[in-house]
Amino acid sequence: MKKKKLKLKKQAYYLLLGLVVIIVAVILGINFYNDSKYKETNEYKLLEKGYTTDETKIIQEKLKQEEIEKILEKEKDERILPFLEEKYFLFKNLDRYLEYQEENDEKSLKDIVAIVNVHADLNWYEETYDTDTSLNEKMIVNKFYALPEDYVPEDQKAISLDQAYGKEGENVLISYAYEKFMDLWQAAKENGFHLMVESSYRNYEDQKEIYDSRKKSQGERAADSTAARPGHSEHQTGLVVDMTSITAPTDSEFKDSEEYKWLKENAHKYGFIERYPEGKTYLTGYSPESWHWRYVGIDAATTCFNEDITYDEYYAYYIEK
Ligand code: DAL
Ligand code: ZN
Repeated sequence: MKKKKLKLKKQAYYLLLGLVVIIVAVILGINFYNDSKYKETNEYKLLEKGYTTDETKIIQEKLKQEEIEKILEKEKDERILPFLEEKYFLFKNLDRYLEYQEENDEKSLKDIVAIVNVHADLNWYEETYDTDTSLNEKMIVNKFYALPEDYVPEDQKAISLDQAYGKEGENVLISYAYEKFMDLWQAAKENGFHLMVESSYRNYEDQKEIYDSRKKSQGERAADSTAARPGHSEHQTGLVVDMTSITAPTDSEFKDSEEYKWLKENAHKYGFIERYPEGKTYLTGYSPESWHWRYVGIDAATTCFNEDITYDEYYAYYIEK
């Protein structure tokens, strides 16, 4: 009886020992598993690269997985951190931001991002691309994006002589931009302003004449700051009006007019934006043109207005990406 009891005791002891061994093994296994899992995380890899905990957090917050992987392929570079906090930061442009910053360290990060995003880190006309005309009112035409020589807007509509200078039928817009222009014109009229269009759609040849004559009289540099080279003018899209008003008919009068002030505050509600605003020449490549208004659609115009950005910046960030 005593022997049997002893045997049972011994069995219980081994059972307990076995259990303890299993539990320890499981705990160790879990720890090992967690450890090797953690080593696969971005956090671990970034910390290993030498990024601080805070930097690691920012990188993970701001970048997508494939972008973090690209960061991990390189040595730690703390210059990238401040760029990640910029609103219009685009990862695809990161190397160009850093390159541009090296040559222009007096510029703010905000400006560097904007300049590179709109390709103004290259010399004007150094590289040019065909614009995507299928974007319709969202298409971009500037010193980088050009229209084909034979591009002609379909479905044109003439602006009447109540709203335009020149001959009957001379000023035309693409029809949907015409409709919005008339809404804008009417709203201005209700506020006591009589806007008048000076120029609208211009074909490639018309633009070539304007540019060539300006180049001849002022030289290439000056011509490039006020006139687009053929194929690079928004006027060829049929989405643009140059306008002043009956009471402020010249460009310089218009710049200081109530009409211009009203347009600046209200044109976006009809889908129009001031395309070459004051203080943005470094992005647009053109001196300010208070008369040049571009139809981009109400949503895009409202974003440009609210965020105080040029269409070049809008296109880079919201469309081209
Ligand atoms: N004046 C504007 C930039 C043009 O020529 O299209
Ligand atoms: Zn114009």
